[in-house]
Amino acid sequence: MDGNGRWARGRGRPASFGHRQGVRAIKRVLQACEDLGVHALSIYAFSTENWARPRAEVRALMRLFHETMQREIDEMHRRGVRIVVSGRRDELSARMRERIDEAMARTANNTNGVLNVCLNYGGRAEIVDAVRKLVRDGLPAQKVDEEAISSRMYNPELPDPDLIIRTAGEHRVSNFLLWQSAYSEMLVTETLWPDFGEDELKAALAEYALRVRRFGARPAAEIAVG
Ligand code: IPE
Ligand code: MG
Repeated sequence: MDGNGRWARGRGRPASFGHRQGVRAIKRVLQACEDLGVHALSIYAFSTENWARPRAEVRALMRLFHETMQREIDEMHRRGVRIVVSGRRDELSARMRERIDEAMARTANNTNGVLNVCLNYGGRAEIVDAVRKLVRDGLPAQKVDEEAISSRMYNPELPDPDLIIRTAGEHRVSNFLLWQSAYSEMLVTETLWPDFGEDELKAALAEYALRVRRFGARPAAEIAVG
C-alpha cells in the first residue's frame, strides 16, 4: 500500500493524513474483493523496516492500526470476514497484541473471505522464524523440504497470492511475502494507494486474466506444435 506519503505531500499535509486516507482505501478494496469474488486479500501495513521512520510517524501509524482494528472488527465479523495478522508480534505493544488476538479469535470461523494484515511483517523475518520452528521441532536435515518450511509460515493455511499489486509506481518487492510469491503475477500501477479503489482493482484483475501462468512448465499447446 505505497504512496500515502506522496498523496499527503501533494496536498501539503503530513504523512499521517495520507495513512488515514489509506485506511479508507482498504475498506473500499475489501468491499470490491467481496463484490468481485476475490477470497483472500493480504495488505502490507507495516514492514519490519518501517520502524526506521520518524518516531512520530511510527506512533501515528500504530495508533491508526489500533483504532481501526477496534472500530472495524464488528463490521468485519458481521460480513463474515476472517482476520489474520502476519508478522512479529513480540515487537508490538501489549494493547496492539490484545486487539490482534481478539480480532483473530472472534473471526476465526468466518468463511466469507480472509483479510491478512501484514503488520511488523518481513518476508525474510518470516523465513527466519520458520527455520527457528524447524530447529525447535528437531527436524533432521533430510526431513527439511518445502512443505516443512511452508507449514511453518505465519499463516500456512492461506493460499499463495495469485496477484501482487504494487501501488505508487515502485518496481521492487520490499520484503513482501518472499516465500509465497514465487509464482505470483506482479502488477505495478502508478496510482497512489489512497486513490486506489474498485475501478483500479477491476483493471488489475482484467490485466491478470490476460496473463499466462506456466509455473515454470511449458503450456500444452506449445508442446503439441513441438
Ligand atoms: C504507505 O505509504 C506505507 C506504509 C508504511 C503504511 P508510504 O508512507 O510509504 O508512502 P510514500 O512512499 O511516502 O509515498
Ligand atoms: Mg513508500
